[in-house]
Amino acid sequence: MIQLCLYWGGGEVKYGNLRYVSKRPNLQAIELTTATYNVAHDVVFSCKFTHRLRFTADVFAAGNDTLSEILSADSGNCPNVAVFVDSNVARSRVDFSDRIGNYFRKHLPEKSPKVRIIPGGEQIKNTQPYFKRILNDLEQSRLCRKSFVIAVGGGAVLDAVGFAASITHRGLRLIRVATTTLSQADSAMAVKNGINAFGKKNYMGVFAAPWAIINDEATLETLTTDQWLAGFSEAVKVALLKDPLLFEYIDRNCEAVRSRNLDTAIPIIRRSGRLHFDHITQNGDPFERQDARPLDFGHWSAHKLEQISGFELSHGQAVAIGIAIDATYANFMGWLCDADHQRILECLNRMGFKLYHRAMKQAKTLLGGLDEFQEHLGGKLTIPSISRIGETFDIFEIDTNQMLAAISYLKRFNEWGRNDDKTDSLHTDLPGGRRSLFSGASRQAD
Ligand SMILES: NC(=O)c1ccc[n+]([C@@H]2O[C@H](COP(=O)([O-])OP(=O)(O)OC[C@H]3O[C@@H](n4cnc5c(N)ncnc54)[C@H](O)[C@@H]3O)[C@@H](O)[C@H]2O)c1
Ligand SMILES: [Zn+2]
Repeated sequence: MIQLCLYWGGGEVKYGNLRYVSKRPNLQAIELTTATYNVAHDVVFSCKFTHRLRFTADVFAAGNDTLSEILSADSGNCPNVAVFVDSNVARSRVDFSDRIGNYFRKHLPEKSPKVRIIPGGEQIKNTQPYFKRILNDLEQSRLCRKSFVIAVGGGAVLDAVGFAASITHRGLRLIRVATTTLSQADSAMAVKNGINAFGKKNYMGVFAAPWAIINDEATLETLTTDQWLAGFSEAVKVALLKDPLLFEYIDRNCEAVRSRNLDTAIPIIRRSGRLHFDHITQNGDPFERQDARPLDFGHWSAHKLEQISGFELSHGQAVAIGIAIDATYANFMGWLCDADHQRILECLNRMGFKLYHRAMKQAKTLLGGLDEFQEHLGGKLTIPSISRIGETFDIFEIDTNQMLAAISYLKRFNEWGRNDDKTDSLHTDLPGGRRSLFSGASRQAD
């Protein structure tokens, strides 16, 4: 039996055979002793967070004040700093660690954090010994709750270091320095941190707002082609859900994105990052307590595809396929018109995304992603769909046959993309001899 004694105001309270007289005036009291009665006391309260986002280039350049300003804003309270760097970011410049050392010597000479290089990519989230090592490094760094942990890297490193930082002393101040298109366009803005466990994506983790996010745009130049592309699927996703003008811009500039024209491409990453950031700060549900996950278009299948493909598919590539699956399903269900459906698939295709992967042969296993998605979120299945570019609505159940048909349709779309004579290969494949690949009528699964 829980015994609870709550006081507010001032006055005199009897507690068992003790008498408590408050030194504060006007004391009123609720007194709960044994099981004589039950009281429920539900109070809604809120906490204020500041979400800080900075866009910069070359954050550890001697003349760049972005990081030092964040660290010194609360300088009286900054006894220590720990730095973790994604191994592939560290490798991208021979002097990466030295530059961090020099940066601190110049800007914050009283701090000389040890720079720890940790494995980049999904392996950091998949390998528990790596995670334990981060925890161990944090312990060795003699940090307190006011200390800063700087994580420099792609989304995977930010997720893993963020999780370790959030459970150390129940939460250190995390500064995310995002170095991939995907983390800058999406994941670094989030308040989610975690690792994979039991073969499931992001199975362990916490919601914890970072102290600050820094998008370092200079780092994007050293990404491989696939890594470069990855963030643009998240940009397409958020554009389809929230910003038709952004989609117009992306659609007009697919080839420039593919050829890594920074002047054209960086505004897309910035706008996407900003839309995700605004969603966290303005949508009223940053910790995802409600059933809906408004930004998770294409994600129920993306997470499962990453897993079935043994992480051969990166998150960004899996999201491109997930968007194609959900857009095709919306078209087959008659919600999304043929023209919008065609534009979405072709836009992703022209940017360089492959919309089919052999993991999709396991279509029924892939559908298991719906159950895992629901289990992960709790509540009733709620998935965002679109009725046109920029207009979203929630769906609560899935027509399995239509979803299987959408998945197998993308196989044909992929083959069609490799076929010079597109028209013929389309028509032979369509049920009922239909003349349009993009007609909204329902189709049978292969
Ligand atoms: N927390 C969230 O809300 C959230 C949202 C979306 C995605 N995610 C997670 O983000 C992860 C994907 O992030 P990602 O796409 O950034 O991939 P990633 O972190 O796996 O990085 C991809 C590869 O690029 C390397 N790399 C990073 N920066 C580099 C640079 N500047 N130059 C050269 N190589 C570099 C990495 O070492 C890695 O090998 C997934 O684990 C996904 O689940 C999290
Ligand atoms: Zn995502």
